[in-house]
Amino acid sequence: MMSGEVRDYQVSAWLMAVCIQGMTLDETVSLTRAFVDSGTVLDWSDIDGVVVDKHSTGGVGDKTTLVLAPLLAAADLKVAKLSGRGLGFTGGTIDKLEAIPGFRTQLSNEAFRQQLQSVGVVVCSQTADLAPADGKMYALRDVTATVDNIPLIAASVVSKKIASGAQVIVLDIKAGCGAFMKTEAEARALADCCRAIGRALGRQVETVISSMESPLGLAVGHTLEVAEAVRTLQGEGPADLEALCLRLGAVALTEAGGAADLKAAEARLKTLLNNGQAFEKFVAMAAAQGGDVSVLRNPDLLQKAPQQISVPSPEAGYVHGIDALKVAEAAKVLGAGRPNKETPIDLTVGVVLNKTLGDVVLEGEPLATLHVRDKGLDAAQRAILEAFSLSSNPLTEQAPLILTF
Ligand code: URA
Repeated sequence: MMSGEVRDYQVSAWLMAVCIQGMTLDETVSLTRAFVDSGTVLDWSDIDGVVVDKHSTGGVGDKTTLVLAPLLAAADLKVAKLSGRGLGFTGGTIDKLEAIPGFRTQLSNEAFRQQLQSVGVVVCSQTADLAPADGKMYALRDVTATVDNIPLIAASVVSKKIASGAQVIVLDIKAGCGAFMKTEAEARALADCCRAIGRALGRQVETVISSMESPLGLAVGHTLEVAEAVRTLQGEGPADLEALCLRLGAVALTEAGGAADLKAAEARLKTLLNNGQAFEKFVAMAAAQGGDVSVLRNPDLLQKAPQQISVPSPEAGYVHGIDALKVAEAAKVLGAGRPNKETPIDLTVGVVLNKTLGDVVLEGEPLATLHVRDKGLDAAQRAILEAFSLSSNPLTEQAPLILTF
């Protein structure tokens, strides 16, 4: 495929055949291996300590990498994380990091290695030489309606993680309206497939399935999410975001041999949030990558959108649902989303939810605050009103955030 010997139309026909027929595990493993072998495979064997990596299949308000990477480094693991930009409704970690003035998201291999050894954590842009055949095939999938297939997604995700060289890989597989996998059953099938590929290729792949029915945390939009990540790293973040970071972190820490079990791992990680050590790792990582750390120590200094406009509730009730896709749509029309790869995005605009699941809302109380520059206000207000489902009855049972692991 990389040499051009197999033509795009042949690959496209093959992709559609896979979508109709599926692939066996052996076939999926072969495809993953071929992706890995098509480019560079990073080798961290000279780094002291266990190198870990995490990946999320993408969601709305998902800023877990900003919290989890420094948190795990504070727990003495080495975190080598290559991330991407956002496309469509999901925000990308690289875009979020660029909300920190001066933060360099492109590093040479040498700078990456040095920082991984000395600071213990690096998050930067994925380079084109990692699993390039996946990049080429993904571009074809995008235009032939063949993205949505479990073996193809699993091979794509796991190949890039294997090529990134980590010894322990934790995947956060999202299920719900704001995710690729709409149901828990599909997410479970994807998780099983990813773990099986890891086993076949001798790499430790662990999975957590988490809900993406409503946004993660309260902030959706790049700068707003950095501020929320900072609060979470200081032990003052929203409960759902903190819980997910602790669970993903506990899986990584336990697998890496840094804790006896998940409970002990979560307790250790929680201490690192509360005593400031996780936050200080984030500051050290940002400083090493050229970022202005004054905005992390005082997030009020982060750039702001010109206007903050609240969306009042037209009625009273209890919040039973907040549709993640609708909130993403609001952030996107305000300028936070990228309709295609070339479009510039506005890092300051977005949505901060004022109410969360189970909250009581009075008529006229703000449901959310929109951070607005010069476009999308009406459409964003409509999307927020559509996102919230209110009921006159209290929410007695909340669907779990972490579905299985
Ligand atoms: N993310 C990937 O990297 N690949 C897919 O196929 C889907 C999501």
